[in-house]
Amino acid sequence: MSNQLCIVLDFGGQYNQLIARRVRECGVYCEIKRFDMPISEIKAMNPTAIIFTGGPNSVYDPSSPHISEEIFSIGVPVLGICYGCQLVAYTLGGKVESCEKSEYGKIEITQDSDSLLFRDVPQKSVVWMSHTDFVSKLPDGFRVTAKSDDCPCAAFEAPERKIYAVQFHPEVTHSEFGKQILHNFLYNVCGCTGDWVMDDFIENTVARLREQIGDKKVILGLSGGVDSSVAAGLLSRAVGKQLTCVFVDQGLMRKDEGDFVEETFTKLFDMNFVRVNCKDKFLAALKGVTDPEQKRKIIGTEFYNVFWDKIREQGTDGFFAQGTIYPDRIESGRGNQAGHGSTAVIKTHHNMVKMPDDIKFAGTIEPLGDLFKDEVRKVGEKLGIPHDLVWRQPFPGPGLGVRIIGEITEEKIKILQEADAVFRDEIRKSGIEEQLKQFFAVLPDVRTVGVMGDHRTYDHLIAIRAVTTDDFMTADWARIPYDVLAKVSNRLCNEVEHVNRVVYDITSKPPGTVEWE
Ligand code: XMP
Repeated sequence: MSNQLCIVLDFGGQYNQLIARRVRECGVYCEIKRFDMPISEIKAMNPTAIIFTGGPNSVYDPSSPHISEEIFSIGVPVLGICYGCQLVAYTLGGKVESCEKSEYGKIEITQDSDSLLFRDVPQKSVVWMSHTDFVSKLPDGFRVTAKSDDCPCAAFEAPERKIYAVQFHPEVTHSEFGKQILHNFLYNVCGCTGDWVMDDFIENTVARLREQIGDKKVILGLSGGVDSSVAAGLLSRAVGKQLTCVFVDQGLMRKDEGDFVEETFTKLFDMNFVRVNCKDKFLAALKGVTDPEQKRKIIGTEFYNVFWDKIREQGTDGFFAQGTIYPDRIESGRGNQAGHGSTAVIKTHHNMVKMPDDIKFAGTIEPLGDLFKDEVRKVGEKLGIPHDLVWRQPFPGPGLGVRIIGEITEEKIKILQEADAVFRDEIRKSGIEEQLKQFFAVLPDVRTVGVMGDHRTYDHLIAIRAVTTDDFMTADWARIPYDVLAKVSNRLCNEVEHVNRVVYDITSKPPGTVEWE
């Protein structure tokens, strides 16, 4: 890749991916690397800019991540953010102390308007602060460029050495002019030209894929999700019929979704499309099973049994492609970033599996391995993949299996598919779809008494779920207007057979999860 590069050195902060995304939004290619990456390797990558991230530590703690002073003399401008800002001061001989009062949340700063970093930023603006230490004495040759009421050194710099530091987080949207500040650093300080554009990415990737694949075959597992769909689109453009997409339909997708995926990829793209319908096999394996984890395990195991069998049948004398994206690589530890802390396994995510030993391909191809989700969507749109696929909501691997509580039966799948379709249709018509990150229907294992005409009914309950969230780690239930809820409830009871009651899930995450199982 010949793009200019910004390296984000990861010191363990929670917003690191956000920093990288913002840099990319500024049109500059960016990669996250561990803080202890040898300086020689950093130099070899020939970066145009370096950013130190925040982190939960104190620079005086001997076990906290540090960096050699040499990083400041390799001729690449540096911007330190939060912990990274304190590290700049500490490493170059300044002093860092604990604040009497930690600053957290939206804070007003006053900045020095002749700093390149603050060009086109008003003298007073609101930024996002989150720190308990602060820089109390600057290293020689530095000057303060911004302060707040409680932080005398909210930003500082040594412009001749191209070293800049901000105590606040320009990457979060709460910092009013944060993006402008990052833009200023990249363009005014580092001289970036904005050469990271998606059209070029497609052209370069297609050329690279053609060269790498030659006349060999490629197999891709297509789930109908955003990532595998865009990977399929790119590979199809690169090698056409040399690509085979294997689509396993376990019968747990939303209404008509399997047909939509098949139609899209057989009509719009040049490739071999292999659909495996195996609903009956899944239903047999799930018969009588009610435990959520067991259901997830069975669906995952069956899925991969079917998938690998199909792969063996197609032959492995070529490449295996995957829709892995950059955050997947980072989260699985392949993104070369600092791994701090560990996360408990809350649910078995069945998309993390190992390839069986007997299956050996010439190599693995991850055409989207360097992209963030929003970039994947841009590429998808440019490739002409339909809007509904490019903007598809997250959909769990086990599909409706985790939205049917209790035993999964054919009848329940049908009820839920119908109910979910009605709910989605009504949300779409109401014009609030864009405000919701995810919305769907759930079929709890509950029947209740109702009345229809003169008759008593004893039938299914449908729960509807809609959330707003930034990252799905936490989520809030969406405040859907009452009149929309009323229409949904009406339609569900009238149009979906065996539904006689509707409830709206008003649980946030935590304590709830987005899915019910
Ligand atoms: P939870 O229920 O954990 O969901 O709050 C967070 C987000 O993850 C999606 N989800 C999954 N995605 N495989 C996936 O690919 C899974 O097994 C899975 N389980 C949950 C969920 O829909 C939500 O967007």
